[in-house]
Amino acid sequence: MNRILVTGSVGQIGSELTIYLRERYGADNVVAGGRKTKPSKELKESGPFEIVDCTDIEAIREVVDKYQIDTIYHLAALLSAVAESNPQLAWNVNINGLINVLEVAREYDCAVFTPSSIGAFGLSTPLDNTPQDTIQRPGTMYGVTKVSGELLCDYYYKKYGVDTRGVRYPGIISYVTPPGGGTTDYAVEIFYEAIKKKKYTCFLKRGTKLDMMYMPDALKAAVDLMEADPGKLKHRNAFNVTAMSFAPEEISAEVKRIIPDFTMDYDVDPLRQEIAESWPNYMDDTAAKDQWGWNPDYDLPAMCEDMIEKLRVKLEK
Ligand SMILES: NC(=O)c1ccc[n+]([C@@H]2O[C@H](COP(=O)([O-])OP(=O)(O)OC[C@H]3O[C@@H](n4cnc5c(N)ncnc54)[C@H](O)[C@@H]3O)[C@@H](O)[C@H]2O)c1
Repeated sequence: MNRILVTGSVGQIGSELTIYLRERYGADNVVAGGRKTKPSKELKESGPFEIVDCTDIEAIREVVDKYQIDTIYHLAALLSAVAESNPQLAWNVNINGLINVLEVAREYDCAVFTPSSIGAFGLSTPLDNTPQDTIQRPGTMYGVTKVSGELLCDYYYKKYGVDTRGVRYPGIISYVTPPGGGTTDYAVEIFYEAIKKKKYTCFLKRGTKLDMMYMPDALKAAVDLMEADPGKLKHRNAFNVTAMSFAPEEISAEVKRIIPDFTMDYDVDPLRQEIAESWPNYMDDTAAKDQWGWNPDYDLPAMCEDMIEKLRVKLEK
């Protein structure tokens, strides 16, 4: 049985993951949980939609009970730059929201997928080929909540047997829903500006390498991990996953290959630059490859070609 609730379904990942899950498991079996942001017509009309504020445990319980949910993809969260502008709210949503979801999962015997992030690392982490198990002392509230979330999910598995699983996503690139205020947002904005204006001003410095992933791979990672044989999972939560690593000038060169008159300049945002510098240049994702067969489909050139093709169609409409 797969009766699924997606929290944060109106966000960048949720809006696409919900549709992907509906195609895979049947539209009526996937409940989209939203909050304030208006859902797209497609999201609202392709299956059940419910308002679920994750800081309200009763609201989660009601929906899980009403639809007999057995799996929760918990995506509701505040992202890095937004979290830094309101750390207390970030703690409330990212941690109290998560523990509410875990408590309901314990009560109703649900499996839970929770994404962690490259933001769970910090300056004292080895930033090249960042190991699966390593030092995690992030300096941002986002990072603090992501490390705590990883530990909380491990704890609920160990203590209560809740089937918790998760990945550390890198920056996610997509053309459907704009990103929600993270440090890697530039790698999405660049495409919109390249198509609309043929120029882009980047808020990170040249040379700032970060892990990234195209949305189809992010969706595949979530579902492959949730469908993986539990007997093979030594880590369960917080698997390093990556598909590509690049600095702003490298993605700019790829965009220019496809849109030859594209140019990029820089106006560095100190907050996001500082955050980016404390995150890995590239992660080692062999644990995910070995334990559940992680294998991304898109590298930088393939992602850029597909992004530009799909975004052109979207923007023309
Ligand atoms: N997008 C990325 O690049 C990226 C990278 C690494 C990890 N992640 C993680 O993936 C998950 C989803 O990220 P996303 O990019 O889709 O984020 P997003 O900001 O686009 O979406 C999150 C959604 O959660 C909602 N939300 C906020 N507070 C809520 C509450 N109290 N109750 C219910 N919903 C609430 C927001 O309205 C938003 O629609 C998050 O855990 C994030 O940390 C994302």
